[in-house]
Amino acid sequence: MGENTSLQTEDLKFDPPDDFVKNANINDPEIYRKADDDPEGFWEEQAEEIEWFKKWDRVHEWDAPHSKWFIGGKLNASYNCLDVNVKKNPDKLAIIWEGENGDIRKYTYRELLEETARLANALKEQGVKKGDIVTIYLPMIPEIIISMLACARIGAPHSVVFAAFSGGSLCTRIEDAKSDLIITCDGYYRRGKIVEQKKKADTGLSSCESVKKVIVVKNLGNEIDIESGRDIWWHDILKDTDPVCEPEVMDSEDMLFLMYTSGTTGKPKGIVHTTGGYMVGTHITAKWIFDLKDDDIYWCTADCGWITGHSYIVYGPLSNGTTVLMYEGAPDYPEKDRFWDIVERHKATILYTAPTAIRSFMKWGDDWPAKHDLSTLRLLGSVGEPINPGAWIWYHEKIGNSRCPIVDTWWQTETGMVMISPLPGVTSTKPGSATFAFPGVKAAVLDEKGKEMPPGKDGLLAITRPWPSMVRTIHGDEERFIETYWSKWDRDTYFAGDGAKMDEDGYFLISGRIDDVIQVSGHRIGTAEIESTLVSHPSVAEAGVVGRSDEIKGEVIYAYVILKTGISGNDELKKKLTGHVDANIGPFARPRRVIFADELPKTRSGKIMRRVLKAIANGKDTGDVTTLQDPDVVDVLKNRTKEAE
Ligand code: PRX
Repeated sequence: MGENTSLQTEDLKFDPPDDFVKNANINDPEIYRKADDDPEGFWEEQAEEIEWFKKWDRVHEWDAPHSKWFIGGKLNASYNCLDVNVKKNPDKLAIIWEGENGDIRKYTYRELLEETARLANALKEQGVKKGDIVTIYLPMIPEIIISMLACARIGAPHSVVFAAFSGGSLCTRIEDAKSDLIITCDGYYRRGKIVEQKKKADTGLSSCESVKKVIVVKNLGNEIDIESGRDIWWHDILKDTDPVCEPEVMDSEDMLFLMYTSGTTGKPKGIVHTTGGYMVGTHITAKWIFDLKDDDIYWCTADCGWITGHSYIVYGPLSNGTTVLMYEGAPDYPEKDRFWDIVERHKATILYTAPTAIRSFMKWGDDWPAKHDLSTLRLLGSVGEPINPGAWIWYHEKIGNSRCPIVDTWWQTETGMVMISPLPGVTSTKPGSATFAFPGVKAAVLDEKGKEMPPGKDGLLAITRPWPSMVRTIHGDEERFIETYWSKWDRDTYFAGDGAKMDEDGYFLISGRIDDVIQVSGHRIGTAEIESTLVSHPSVAEAGVVGRSDEIKGEVIYAYVILKTGISGNDELKKKLTGHVDANIGPFARPRRVIFADELPKTRSGKIMRRVLKAIANGKDTGDVTTLQDPDVVDVLKNRTKEAE
C-alpha cells in the first residue's frame, strides 16, 4: 500500500509496524476503555509520572466551566524539566541548537539547569516576584527556553510573544498582561537577513509605559540603542549570579503561563494555563504520542512563540528527559533541503512539523529529501491545520520511507495538550484523519443544538469532558472565556471553533476553523485583528478580511478594502496597505491580495456577511444573498477578485 498516491484515500489504512508496536511506550489498545471507565483514576495514575513536592488531596473539581486539577498538589515545572533529569543523567543533552548561519550550541541537562538557575536568580535581583508576569520576546535561540524555565522556577508566569510580531503587537500584549519586565535580544537572522528585534521592541515600548526593565540577549552583536536605567544586558546580570536557585513551591493551580491567541474580535486573548494539570497533560501526551525514548533526538519545528513550542519543545519533551533539537531559521535557507540536512547531521529520530511545510517540500520536489540519509527517523508528526491526504502520503513515503507511523495531532492553544491523535503503537491511521481522542479525553461532533451528528455528517467539534491542561480562563476577561468556549451548548461542553465529522469507524476528520479565525501556515490569526489594522490606515474607510484556501499555506488572507472618499486605489496603495499590516501585526499576517471595493456584502442592519465574502474570495457559490442590503455587490466583488488573481 506504501506507493499508493491516489487521493482515493477513504479506504487507506496504515497499521502500526510490528516492531514499533513491540517497543512502544504504550501499545495496549485497552488503554482507551480503561481511561473511559474511570477518567479521574486514569489522570491520577498519569500524575504519578511527574514529581510533586506534595501530592494532591483531590484529583479534580468541576464547577462547569471551571476546572481544578490535582487540588492541593505542590510542584514546580522547571524542577520537573531540569532537576529531575539531572538526578538521572546530568550529562545527557537537553538541547541541540542550530542557528540559521550554521552555529551549533549544545546544553546538557546540568548546563541547562545552571543557566536557568542563574537567570532565575538574576530575575529575582531585578525585583521579579512570584506571580509577576514576564514577557519574553525572543527568537528561536536557547535563551528563549532558559527564560521560560527561569520564570517557571521562580513562579513568575511567562507570556511569550512570537518574535515576528511587531512592536505594536508586543505592546498590546504587555499592557494586557501588565508586565513590567521583558526579555528580548539585539537581533537575529531570518533567511540570512538581520531582524532588528531590539529596535522593534523599542518601537512598541515607546507607547507602553508599564515596562521598567528590558533584559537584552546579545545574540548577533548588531548595534542597538540602550536606554539607561531600563535596558540591561543578559550577560551582565548573569555574570556573577549563583547557578543554584531553589525552585519555588507552586500550587497545582498557580498560573504557569499566559499565551496570547487570536479570537473573533480584534483583541487577542490571554489564555491562562496552570501548573499541575498542564504538566501532567503535556508530559503524558509527549511520552505516548511521540513515544519518547532515552536515545531519541526529537525535533519539533514549531516556534516557542506559539503553543506547540511551549508544550512540545519545552514542557512535554524536557519533562520526559528528551534530547530536543532546535533550529533557529527558515526551512529553505540556504537551500531547500535545510530540514533534511539537519535531520541527517543530527540524526533526528522524531520529526513534528506542520502541513504547510510538508506541502512546500512537496512543491520543491522529491530530490531535496532524496539527497539525504533520513533513515534515523522513526516517527513523524503533523500539527496546526488539517493535513490533506496527498501531503500525508508524501510525508509517509518520501520522508518516512513508508516505515514511520504518522501522528496527526489536533489541539489548540486553549487545550494545552494534544487532544485527538493516533497513539503510534496502537492506532491504525488513515491519511487526513487525526483518528481518536487521547485516552481520558472525550470529543464529539455535535450539531448547533448539541445533538451528536451521525457518521459522515458535518458538525462542530466539541470536547465533552474536562481534561487536566484545559484553559482556566482568559486573563482579565472571565466573561469572554465563558462566552467563547462554554456558551454554544451546555456549560460543561467545550466549543472548539472547528468543523468536523466522524467516519463510520469513529475516526475524526477535522476540517478547520468555522469562525472568523484563520490558520495561515499553521499560524492562528483573527480576521478582525487584520481588519482593525487596515482601518487604522489613513486611506481606509472599511475592510473585510477572509481566508481563501491555498494549496500550500492552507489558507491565505484576502482583504477587501473600501477607501475613504477621494482616495483612488492603485498598486502602490496596495503595497502600502500590506506593508501596514506587516509593520503593525507581523509579516505572517500580510494579505495575499488587497481588493478595492465600493461596498461590502452587508446585511440590512449593516453587518458584513463573512460567509458571502468568503465564498466570493474562494470562487464558490455564494448561496442565498437575498438578505443583503445590495445583492449586486456580489457580482462586482466576484469580478474584482478574478481580476486580482
Ligand atoms: O483549526 C484547528 C487547527 O489549529 C487551531 C488551533 O490553533 P492554535 O491555537 O494556534 O494551535 C495550533 C497548534 C496546536 C485549531 O482550532 N489545528 C491544529 N491542529 C490541527 C488543526 N486542524 C486540523 N488538524 C490538526 N491536526
